[in-house]
Amino acid sequence: MNVFAIESSCDDTSFALINDQKKIKFLKTINHKDFHKLKGGVIPEIAARQHLQIIDKAKKFLMKVNFNNVDAIASTFGPGLIGSLIVGSSFAKGLAIAKNKKLIPINHLQAHLLSPRLVSKLNFPYLCLLVSGGNTAIVLVKSPMKLNVIGSTIDDSAGECFDKVAKVLNLDYPGGPIIEKYAKDGDPHKYVLPKPLSKIPNSNFSFSGLKTASIKIIRDNVLNERFKKDFSASFQFTVGEILINKVSNSLDILSKKKIKIKDFSICGGVGANLYINSRMKDFIENRNLIYHQVPLNLCTDNAAMIGWNAIEILRTSKRNFNTFSYRPSPNTLIHENF
Ligand code: KG4
Repeated sequence: MNVFAIESSCDDTSFALINDQKKIKFLKTINHKDFHKLKGGVIPEIAARQHLQIIDKAKKFLMKVNFNNVDAIASTFGPGLIGSLIVGSSFAKGLAIAKNKKLIPINHLQAHLLSPRLVSKLNFPYLCLLVSGGNTAIVLVKSPMKLNVIGSTIDDSAGECFDKVAKVLNLDYPGGPIIEKYAKDGDPHKYVLPKPLSKIPNSNFSFSGLKTASIKIIRDNVLNERFKKDFSASFQFTVGEILINKVSNSLDILSKKKIKIKDFSICGGVGANLYINSRMKDFIENRNLIYHQVPLNLCTDNAAMIGWNAIEILRTSKRNFNTFSYRPSPNTLIHENF
């Protein structure tokens, strides 16, 4: 089974051709960060226009795809920025109609949560920590269509917090990779930062207090390289502590409910952070579970995970997919299907 997939939920335009043997035959992701850098965050209108321009330029590549061998077209329908979603999903709809293929509408969050299975053997149910620019949640993945949220953020996401802290530190956008780079030469114990909700034995996160405390410390200091490195290391260390604490609570909750899992993974953009991966790996292996790391290019937004999600759905669902009936939706929840 071959699926042609499109991702356009935020500021990455991505195309992929992928098969059910987990072979990514083609993956091209174009990030728009240079257009958003000046504002230190994504500007929805510019993102939508960028998707339009990049999709126009994709003609060359589309000509090379043999659609006779393609079984379905998949595209992100939500959640995300509505303008961006409209561009990608309308293009996918047109392509599906023109090529007479099934259109599979994909929930972007579910695609992130199933992405570890594209690169590794994880059995259902498994536990997955989703840490992206828009979301932070711990999810029990029971099947491609059944996902139980054990806990999620009550305010900001971890990625948003990385981006905001980087902006106040005068670092580039997106902030996560740059903070990770600066943190390598910094002292993780130099600044003591709050870990909101850490005393509460549930799996919910809060990052707004950490964000505010960070901004205050940054504004009270001189922004030289030494400070940026030490602060980045302390901030990254604190995010790692918060994530491990809440994953630990989730494992306790599952254990109390006698739900057995063997596998664990992190997905989403912050999952590209090697420091957080390495600390989480040690923690998970100490709990006698198998840790699965998703490669960097599949952690951040990409169309391969969208195509893979479609393959997982096509394998398990008997549903008739009606190309004309789907509408993109900016606020789709993790467990919602189209
Ligand atoms: O999953 P993603 O590409 O987009 C969403 O669907 O939200 O995540 C983007 C987020 C940004 O906030 C970015 O700063 C963060 O992921 N990120 C990182 C790293 N690479 C990307 N955060 C920490 N460390 C990284 N290496």
